[in-house]
Amino acid sequence: MKIINTVTGLKKQVKVLKLSPLGFVPTMGALHEGHISLVKNATKRCPLVVVSIYVNPTQFNDKDDLKNYPRTIEADLALLKNHLRKDDIVFTPDDREVYPAEDKRIFSFGNLDKVMEALHRPGHFNGVGQVVSRLFDIVEPDIAFFGIKDFQQVAVIKSMVRQLKLGVRIMSCPIIREADGLAMSSRNRLLEKEIRKKAPVIFKTISKAAEMICDNDIPEIKKFVKSSIEKESGFRIEYFEIADDTDLVTISKKSEIKTGKRYYGCIAVKAGNIRLIDNIEIPLV
Ligand code: PAJ
Repeated sequence: MKIINTVTGLKKQVKVLKLSPLGFVPTMGALHEGHISLVKNATKRCPLVVVSIYVNPTQFNDKDDLKNYPRTIEADLALLKNHLRKDDIVFTPDDREVYPAEDKRIFSFGNLDKVMEALHRPGHFNGVGQVVSRLFDIVEPDIAFFGIKDFQQVAVIKSMVRQLKLGVRIMSCPIIREADGLAMSSRNRLLEKEIRKKAPVIFKTISKAAEMICDNDIPEIKKFVKSSIEKESGFRIEYFEIADDTDLVTISKKSEIKTGKRYYGCIAVKAGNIRLIDNIEIPLV
């Protein structure tokens, strides 16, 4: 693999190789098997793959979160080396390369930017829109790979691609979990030991919630999710919502379910000081 940290260097290399489809996996580093699953999907489908590692300041609404975000570039490169081929590229730009001038663009994501994560992280998706559109401009990929772990992010990016009429196909890939069910996340390594031990309660609870849809309405399911998670000390729910995967319309009664749509139960939990998110598809019969 090649490591490139400038926009001109990257563009030149991609032009020389001229392989298509060009696959792209944007990341913020602190890589784990969840990221690697995207890389594997990309290398399976694309003869040339670019993986970016860039901690984007404009998507952090919490300055401490940005400061504490794990940065493990040496380990990341060692891991990628096992999965990328000779010509694949790891793009590691600094702030000046990504934002030569301040990005003042304001995106309109409609309802996508009014529910769930957006309510708890104001400005977050605008920052995601800024960096992903900028990275798409730089890399010019044919296919970009994202994890459904960040359920709302996938919907936001698909909307951005439609609005800006970008010729990029967005592939969403399944959530990779630890053996005990906890969704892999760069933030898991920041969890205190005792909290980490109890963290599987999140996936266990939303799995049960998905089963409950047959015999219960949404308020009962929400009540169950809150009590099941908050009975663990140090765990507090920010939200649990059931929403469709395109417009992210959250529903409060089963009668609001629309046929032909897919629904997901989405959760954000404060586990000690760390914020974790997860989701599960709600099977509708
Ligand atoms: P980051 O959190 O590093 O995640 C990079 C990609 O990995 C995202 O598409 C995310 O959904 C996916 N991912 C994370 N954990 C996963 C898991 N357990 N299973 C499967 N995929 C997983 O998401 C971002 O970075 C940033 O917002 C970014 C898109 C790079 C823009 O800065």
